[in-house]
Amino acid sequence: MKKILITLLSIICFSCSQNNSISIKSPNNGIKLSFEIVDGVPTYSVNNKNKKVISLSKMGLLFNNNIDFSKDLKLLETKSSSFNNSWKPLYGEEEMITNNYNELIVSLSNNVYKMNIFFRVFDDGVAFKYVVPKQNKFNSYDLIDEKTEFNISSKDSALWIPAFSYRRYEFLYANSPVDDISKNYYSKNVEDISYDTLGIDAAHTPLTIKKDNELFISIHEANLVDYSSMTLKPKGNGKLEVELYPWSDGIKVKSTTGINSPWRTIQIANNSSELLDSNIILNLNDDPDKNEDFSWVKPGKYMGVWWEMIGTNESTWWPSKNHGANNEKVKEYMDFASEHGFEGLLVEGWNKGWYPEWCCSGNGIPFSFTETVDDFDIEMLAEYGSKRNISLVGHHETGGQIQNYENQLEDAFKLYNKFGIKNIKTGYVNDVSKNIKRTDNNGDVIREWHHGQYMVNHFQKVIELAAKYKLNIITHEPIKDTGLRRKYPNYISREGAKGQEFNGFWTNGVNHATDLPFTRMLSGPMDYTPGVFQLNNFRYDSPETKNIDKGAIVPSTIGKELALYVVYYSPMQMAADLPKHYSKHMDAFAFIKNVPVDWSERKILNSEFREYVCMARKDKYSENWYVGGITNENERELKLDFSFLESGKEYTMKMYLDTQNTHWKENPMEYQITEREVSANDNIDIYLAPGGGFAIEIIAK
Ligand code: NOJ
Repeated sequence: MKKILITLLSIICFSCSQNNSISIKSPNNGIKLSFEIVDGVPTYSVNNKNKKVISLSKMGLLFNNNIDFSKDLKLLETKSSSFNNSWKPLYGEEEMITNNYNELIVSLSNNVYKMNIFFRVFDDGVAFKYVVPKQNKFNSYDLIDEKTEFNISSKDSALWIPAFSYRRYEFLYANSPVDDISKNYYSKNVEDISYDTLGIDAAHTPLTIKKDNELFISIHEANLVDYSSMTLKPKGNGKLEVELYPWSDGIKVKSTTGINSPWRTIQIANNSSELLDSNIILNLNDDPDKNEDFSWVKPGKYMGVWWEMIGTNESTWWPSKNHGANNEKVKEYMDFASEHGFEGLLVEGWNKGWYPEWCCSGNGIPFSFTETVDDFDIEMLAEYGSKRNISLVGHHETGGQIQNYENQLEDAFKLYNKFGIKNIKTGYVNDVSKNIKRTDNNGDVIREWHHGQYMVNHFQKVIELAAKYKLNIITHEPIKDTGLRRKYPNYISREGAKGQEFNGFWTNGVNHATDLPFTRMLSGPMDYTPGVFQLNNFRYDSPETKNIDKGAIVPSTIGKELALYVVYYSPMQMAADLPKHYSKHMDAFAFIKNVPVDWSERKILNSEFREYVCMARKDKYSENWYVGGITNENERELKLDFSFLESGKEYTMKMYLDTQNTHWKENPMEYQITEREVSANDNIDIYLAPGGGFAIEIIAK
């Protein structure tokens, strides 16, 4: 690891009344951030070379008892420094990550109390956070409002999903001028959510903005701990303002020890490919505590007794004659998965509490996380797996019943420890806005939002306790990723967007897959669950009658399903389909078996916003490369330039391609596999069918 370099450049004291403007630049001088107190109001603005990124925007926090850090402020002191080091994540998209920025800390006073704002300017973006230290006579740090603005332009367009709505982050993306972000716009143009009247018009982050001046920016947050999650509400004239999810009593963040807000991040890119190539979020998180050893966290691949409930609809989660989680079936899956080198097998519906109407109101029978149903013998199956080098992946569907889960958490983890289970998929289905029930100290039942401080703290509790029991967590219906996997590598993956499963019981349409890299994937790994091979005629009307639903399709091609293992990063990757479906295409399944989950390098070879993405990744443990490309509904021919390979070295490659006849709707399962030699001097044209994609395995000789 390169030596850490911290240089204290200056400590400047200003007189306490004038309007002070202070600027810092990125290490390469491209980005400039200016902080200024304008008539007592703290503001910032950002430029990228000669292009405006953020015009003058207000900042500040407002606490209970009218303690206001958004006006009448005076500058006490500023400090600036530079930082440049490299660090090695335990696993990741890159083996070595450079963290290079210039920092400015401004200390402000509202005459009584103090607040600091930290700014960091990287070569690919800026970040800032508020720190209100514990101070005498400042007893309750209940935050009423965060006043941060992002003043962009009405001409800029956003690719967004609605916040404060019933299905968390599981929405298709809307593309509109920033001022049009609203439930109304969404209902008219994407999906009707007009009946979901609780909450305000706002968008989730990461929020991707294509600026009128050709820049791309992504506004998000890093290190979301003990705070409420940030949404962005339009204020007109191209201005967005932070709106935090409130507690049920209206307070946004509760604290007795001061405030250390998450980082507000603005990633800045000159083109769509640069947008996909940033480490800002991870760099703004901390290393694990010194006394924590996470070397037991191992990336891997898993299969699951899962798609047959959610996709093919031939089995049930609950006990029935079609119950999926039965001993014989689990053994069959284990045989297949272990024969092909998978580390884990997810089994859903193994525990008591499932029944046909379990979903999705938060009112269901509370799940047990320690009692098994009769046809699932956890001890026997764990043993069966351990003889075959595969372990069960545990499953905790909470139904959003947090207290029921927390009451059993430790016992549930102990049970999994006993049976050698290393990974747990958790779930929080509760498809009603502001419907996470909690009993307060008076015994009253109160309802909270899924993304407020209550839930942020719940997810934190789970991850810390899981670390104690050496368990990895993969969350569905999670809190968004803000880079905590750096400090807690056991927070290994999560869903947090419309994933493949919506293609099982509904549809994501053909263009969602190419939106995800430019939006959700900017926050971190996703448990998208790729690898469905039976893309049509797969779904039954019901497990009892088993009539094929001819209308159900996964809008993809086999080539594209393979590409997703490269394009969508996840250190725990699922092969989502059933063994019987893979058995029909074992030549293509070979790619899923071989593709790594831990990488040393990432190269965005080519992309066009919302149209297509093509990336290459280098295996962390060999000289081999893997390439994946996906397109939206439009077919295209891409020129692949292999100059990312080591010059002078020889490689062979196997290409998994759409054919000229492949089509996501008409003919999704046609593919061809070709092999040839390749070197850094080569350029090859590759055809991607409508809605299709390709994958390549490049083996160093
Ligand atoms: C929703 C999850 O996203 C899905 O993967 C899971 O199978 C169901 N909940 C049941 O837990």
